[in-house]
Amino acid sequence: MNAPVPPADALRRSLATLLDGLPPREAAQAVDRLIANYRGTTPTDAPILRHRADVAAYAAYRMPATYEAVHSALEAFAEAVPDWTPRSHVDVGGGTGAATWAVTATWHGTRPVTVLDWSEPALTLGQEIATANPALHNTSWQRTRIGAALTLEATDLVTVSYVLNELTAADRAALVAAAAAAAQAVVIVEAGTPDGYARVIEARDRLMAAGFHIAAPCPHSAACPIVPGEDWCHFSARVSRSSLHRQVKGGSLAYEDEKFAYVAATRLPVTPAPSRVVRRPQIRKGQVLLDLCETDEHLNRRTVTKRHGDLYKAARDATWGDPWPPADRP
Ligand SMILES: C[S@@+](CC[C@H](N)C(=O)[O-])C[C@H]1O[C@@H](n2cnc3c(N)ncnc32)[C@H](O)[C@@H]1O
Repeated sequence: MNAPVPPADALRRSLATLLDGLPPREAAQAVDRLIANYRGTTPTDAPILRHRADVAAYAAYRMPATYEAVHSALEAFAEAVPDWTPRSHVDVGGGTGAATWAVTATWHGTRPVTVLDWSEPALTLGQEIATANPALHNTSWQRTRIGAALTLEATDLVTVSYVLNELTAADRAALVAAAAAAAQAVVIVEAGTPDGYARVIEARDRLMAAGFHIAAPCPHSAACPIVPGEDWCHFSARVSRSSLHRQVKGGSLAYEDEKFAYVAATRLPVTPAPSRVVRRPQIRKGQVLLDLCETDEHLNRRTVTKRHGDLYKAARDATWGDPWPPADRP
């Protein structure tokens, strides 16, 4: 029997075939339109993803990046709740289903999945792509508007990926309240910008007020030590560039880094990281500088030198977003 194809590879293949029928010029124009729309006023009264070409462009151009960002956030969450696997999943504002793929990459097996979005073409295309992932065959794609009337069925996990940005303040509050009422665990991902971070912190406060504990990225469920306007907490996920990326952006780089902000919160007992690396580590001669968010509710810079032995080796391997010290080094 052949080994199962990893979700990231199956997704890449599925997205590559998606554009086969679309002439390169048309695909590039659809991406231009998409970028222009996202630069325009959001929230909007109607879906931005209105036509199949727009959705195909979104899927081919943005979905690999949103997939990798959500996957990173879910892996950090899974480390904080190692004995837990979601038995059901609702992806709100799920679009073409990036987060559903990321969940199948983090936790093996199948579970009932529901994707909610107001864009019918996004749901249709997401369903087509998902045929390439056996773990998503039990998925229901439902047209739903996020707003004051939103209620969610009870579920283990709710994901909200790159959606808060498209909502009014009132709809963001309604969505987080509905997620907190329905789920054991809520994972929210936004762009890694100061505004994206601010929306994540707003959601984090709401989830804690609803009785959730923060599992990741924070090592504690106290207030975030970052002063708004001075800095923002964000992370980076490496994304292989598709041929469409190269066509639209030019250049020959095989990858790019997607910056994202996130919060993963749960009602389950959690063991958050003892501290987390919140910037790219700086490797100097004989020493590594680590910027850490720590349980004392401060950001601290720690210097790990050769004199620290194995810990120094671990620091040289540490990457932005990792727990510190690594799990096998208490
Ligand atoms: C940037 S896309 C993100 C899609 C997907 N979650 C991902 O990570 O790739 C934002 C999605 O939110 C949906 N959306 C925005 N506002 C909405 C609303 N009020 N009700 C339902 N869906 C909405 C859009 O249709 C779109 O699919």
